[in-house]
Amino acid sequence: MESGTSAETTSLENQFPQPASARGPALGTSHVVPMPAARPPAPAAAEGVELASPANDGLHVAIIADGNGRWATSRGLPRSAGHRAGAETARHIIEAAPRLGIHTLTLFALSSANWKRPVAEVNGILRLLHEYLLTEMEHSIEEGVRLSIIGRRDRVPATLRQTIADSESATAKGTRLHLRLAIDYSAREAIFQAACRFYKVTELSTESFSRVLAEVLHGGSTEVDLLIRTGGEQRLSDFLLWECAFAEFVFVRKAWPDFTVTDLEAALQEFAHRERTRGALPDALAG
Ligand code: FPP
Repeated sequence: MESGTSAETTSLENQFPQPASARGPALGTSHVVPMPAARPPAPAAAEGVELASPANDGLHVAIIADGNGRWATSRGLPRSAGHRAGAETARHIIEAAPRLGIHTLTLFALSSANWKRPVAEVNGILRLLHEYLLTEMEHSIEEGVRLSIIGRRDRVPATLRQTIADSESATAKGTRLHLRLAIDYSAREAIFQAACRFYKVTELSTESFSRVLAEVLHGGSTEVDLLIRTGGEQRLSDFLLWECAFAEFVFVRKAWPDFTVTDLEAALQEFAHRERTRGALPDALAG
């Protein structure tokens, strides 16, 4: 997530604006969004896995999808190939999530810190996300997937901002899975923004703070049950700091493009064996 290279500077460089704070003066906003490719076929459902789980009765799984760049570099490919492969992995994981008992899935797609990367790389990721929203909108409606974007919206291109709004309103009735893509997201920044608004709130509680944070983020602020990070690193990288207070963490060595539905099932199995006490005594010791 944090690493970067300056190797991929292309003529696409000026297609998306960059935050002034990260890159100097903002670039122009005019850009071309390529027509989305046809939606690839979904992988077959894994055997022995329960189908469909009640929407409000499942887990919130958050994923730091790390290792795309290293995956590509180790194959002699440009980093962009790693992000494209990572987007494919995301499709498979999203498809499988509801039948594995996940009702909310939050994917860290672009951190606010990622603006420090080469412009071409960030633009490539933004294009992939735009492509994903365009190709998946109909399918998401059919599958009962509600799409939300959490993070800042003022620094992404206007056309992507519009597609985000369209996708969110078109899928708003989905109850099978709440898919939250974190784009230009920084937990610290979101908490700071929420704190700035909080002084107006009269009922001071952690719940009311969570509500203000949810407003700042647009896509809600729900407690994370399980946080998975691929790519071998073991840190939170400014992701869902407030929401992960009692989350269980599973770190996976594999790079994100190699992560499979079977790996997700294994992480869920591990999670199922963890005893979650939230500071209370474990059942065996409680009176
Ligand atoms: C981390 O790998 C990944 C990213 C910075 C963002 C890319 C995310 C995706 C392509 C998923 C997009 C999701 C959808 C739904 C389209 P890295 O570049 O930090 O890897 P490295 O640590 O090996 O350099």
